[in-house]
Amino acid sequence: MLKFLSRHISKIGVIGAGQMGTGIAIVTSNSAKLPVILFDSNPVQAQKSESFLQDWLQKKLKKNEISDPDNFKSRISYSSDLSKVSECDFVIEAISEDFSAKSSLFSKLSPYLTQTTILASNTSSISITKLAGISKHPENVIGMHFMNPVPVMTLVEVIKGLQTSPETLKSTLDLSKKMGKVCTESLDRPGFIANRVLMPYINEAIQVLNEGIATKEDIDSTMKLGTNVPMGPLQLADFIGLDTCLSIMRVLHSEIGDSKYRPSTLLVNYVNAGWLGKKSGKGFYEYKKN
Ligand code: CAA
Repeated sequence: MLKFLSRHISKIGVIGAGQMGTGIAIVTSNSAKLPVILFDSNPVQAQKSESFLQDWLQKKLKKNEISDPDNFKSRISYSSDLSKVSECDFVIEAISEDFSAKSSLFSKLSPYLTQTTILASNTSSISITKLAGISKHPENVIGMHFMNPVPVMTLVEVIKGLQTSPETLKSTLDLSKKMGKVCTESLDRPGFIANRVLMPYINEAIQVLNEGIATKEDIDSTMKLGTNVPMGPLQLADFIGLDTCLSIMRVLHSEIGDSKYRPSTLLVNYVNAGWLGKKSGKGFYEYKKN
């Protein structure tokens, strides 16, 4: 049991209104009942996010699974103005999985963060210690790794960097619980727990396909029916995004240095071809484009 006090959190900021950020805003409003500002500089992305949110709400209303739809909606606002981060006491970064993009965002956020604002990163593999190292208040930086789709998946993987304070950890665990999530804690090592295990599994499935050992359908059926998971590894890779899978494999390969983490050449080729999975309409399978 942590004896440190949790900080009082009254407003959340989520940076990036993509799939993950929108999901995080949904659970913040619906489960934690906290106001949330969803930041995105791209109006098209913000529009997409708003219509996803609207569809999600309609679905929940139909199934009678939401008790206060008006409050749910009014707790969520959108902004492209990062200075509004100063209104938030807990900020969750959910932008693309790219160190230089995150680093540039952290610099832009800097003037708007107080001494006590917690800055959580939804990174799936980048070092929290490294991200904290470029932040004005490294003790307030932590990893808060949600799983996709956020409103459905129960897990939040929490990663403490070398500099993360016990108060930041306790506040993050408490907030995750309010969001209806179950937390696991990982040391700050490449891929943490989830992707250290999941990505080599997906990469190996791609390699099995590359070597012509089985068809994509048989690889997926074997693992889906044989290990009782909702999706086979190739379907899951398409769902996550092949570019994301590749960038995580590259982090594992370069930072651990063991050749067993080398990305499959088929994965590299698919990404080079722009076949990124569900989001691009084609990956290992074909999809209707949104
Ligand atoms: N947002 C919100 N809700 C969603 C959703 C989304 N994007 N996608 C599906 N759902 C909801 C549906 O509304 C539906 O809800 P109800 O039961 O209330 O109706 C429910 O999920 C089931 O959806 P469907 O009936 O449409 O489809 P399904 O039964 O095939 O389930 C799935 C879809 C939930 C995605 C399921 O296939 C699944 O759990 N897949 C595995 C997902 C997974 O492993 N995620 C982790 C990826 S790894 C990761 O995220 C970490 C990383 O760093 C890479």
